[in-house]
Amino acid sequence: MCGIVGYAGEKKTIPILIDGLKRLEYRGYDSAGLAVISKERRLEVRKSPGRVSELEATLKDMPETGNRIGIAHTRWATHGEPTKENAHPHIDCTGNIALVHNGIIENYEALRTYLEERGHTFISKTDTEVVAHLIEEFLKEKGTTFLDAFIKAIQHIKGSYAIVAISVLEPDTIYASHLSSPLVIGQGEGENFLASDASPFLGKASEVLYPPEDEVVVITKDEIKLFDLNKNKRDPVFEKLEGTLESIQKGSYSHFMLKEIHEQPERIRDAMRGRLLLREGDAKLGGLEPIWGDIVNAKRIIISACGTSWHAGLVGKYMLEEIARVHTDVEYASELRYRNPVFEKGDVLFVISQSGETADTLATLREAKSKGVTVAGIVNTVGSTIAREAGVGVYIHAGPEIGVASTKAFTSQVSILALITLAIGRAKYITQEKGVVIAEAMNALPEKVGRALGAEDEIKSIARDFKNSKNFLYLGRGANFPTALEGALKLKEISYIHAEGYPAAEMKHGPIALIDENMPVVFVAPQDGIYEKVLSNIEEVRARKGKVIAIANEGDDRIKSLADYIIRVPRTLGWLGPIVNVAPLQLLAYYLALERGCPIDQPRNLAKSVTVE
Ligand code: F6R
Repeated sequence: MCGIVGYAGEKKTIPILIDGLKRLEYRGYDSAGLAVISKERRLEVRKSPGRVSELEATLKDMPETGNRIGIAHTRWATHGEPTKENAHPHIDCTGNIALVHNGIIENYEALRTYLEERGHTFISKTDTEVVAHLIEEFLKEKGTTFLDAFIKAIQHIKGSYAIVAISVLEPDTIYASHLSSPLVIGQGEGENFLASDASPFLGKASEVLYPPEDEVVVITKDEIKLFDLNKNKRDPVFEKLEGTLESIQKGSYSHFMLKEIHEQPERIRDAMRGRLLLREGDAKLGGLEPIWGDIVNAKRIIISACGTSWHAGLVGKYMLEEIARVHTDVEYASELRYRNPVFEKGDVLFVISQSGETADTLATLREAKSKGVTVAGIVNTVGSTIAREAGVGVYIHAGPEIGVASTKAFTSQVSILALITLAIGRAKYITQEKGVVIAEAMNALPEKVGRALGAEDEIKSIARDFKNSKNFLYLGRGANFPTALEGALKLKEISYIHAEGYPAAEMKHGPIALIDENMPVVFVAPQDGIYEKVLSNIEEVRARKGKVIAIANEGDDRIKSLADYIIRVPRTLGWLGPIVNVAPLQLLAYYLALERGCPIDQPRNLAKSVTVE
């Protein structure tokens, strides 16, 4: 949700912090702040409501800093409005300690009362500020070092956190710890970094450390030390930092979202690379091997996720049931976790998450694991909490997704589900001959998605015609019902136009009441097994003067007399259709938002990874 950056080194600290915050701004952008230590050993703190650029404008009068350490934060508000007071870093009463936090401190009210009774004065309405005061309080005890006080504070808080603190008492050192919130350490030459993900130090650090939860990392420019909560030293395990600077830059695109939409053919190819076996007509997912027997023999597959990842899961249900013939349930993680779900022998749970941090999805994973269910993750972000805790799973290899509205992650997630479907089907009853047909269809997907994206000019013109619409309806059937849901979600997220996705045949059970000449209805209408039925649903909309925008296959002439607007997409196997058909819906949302002047990469109230429930 929030983004944290820290730096220890001799380079100019403030530009490094600001650059890092900009790279993390997709995580939250309602206020921002930073703290450094001046040459006179005073804390210098600047905060501002709004975007990082607004924080930058407050830095002109910054005194010379020691350029030794600094911490910074970009916020997605949970407790307290996005004001300057509530922006991080938060400071203790002495003004010696500055602290930033991502997550939620659940027992902050009790801690605040405890601290107020001991004379502490609070400035903000946040849950975070208690931690700065707690450290201050514990430091009063004779013989207590900053490390002791930091550990004691961590032991007193309940909830989720990535906490990073600095103090003028130790002006070269950063202290950090995390639990159920991400924290990554980057090791460079004579400089070290920390952040919520590795993007702030891509191109600057060579090695990365994912510190274990509930341990404390102590960072100076020359050293990265790890301690457990009993102050025992632990050995940090570094990994090579993968990823390129290019992957987190917009390049020639005006928005990350547009770049990510156009990257999809390549990313789908990456998801399938080495896993799709064309000659054998099969798929092999190395990451699932430890539990492959359980997967093939599963009596039920459960897929749990949130938002767009949940839509990908729902496409998975259609695939797994139709092709692999395995009973599949798809669950909102936020519901499953509190329902005391019934798990049975033979269940296998897949959790899907782009960020690998979503709090509800993580909780579902933990709940299922604690009940002995076989679990696996389908995750994008390497080293993320869900990826690590799942232990077993598949990376989708979509690369960093920075636009807040998820696009390339969806098609890559569905591609992975298609691979799993093929592999289970082949292990059970699909012949090699049929497997080869499926594998070839999958292999052709990147090129077909590229062709579907070629309809950009028609889509721009449709967006111009409908930019003042107040509502949209998205309808589809079979595996394209989730495609319709995803199209509607994209539209509401970035253009703020109200949109609903429905199974096309459900329309007459209620939503049909909304249809008049002002209602654009987007039909996902490929020539698959249910095409004729969808045509009847289109007729029902036309009879009520609704404006029909059809996503239809190349060469489909029948649609011409039925739709007001047609966006052409190549034909593929019905159950693979969502991967191709979603592409124009992403572009339609993008160009409608552009016409309406919306902040596409950072829509209001949203943040990229939802680490709170
Ligand atoms: C929609 C979107 C969200 C996420 C959801 C789950 O464009 O981005 O709905 O899909 O918050 O996030 P992950 O996949 O990171 O678990």
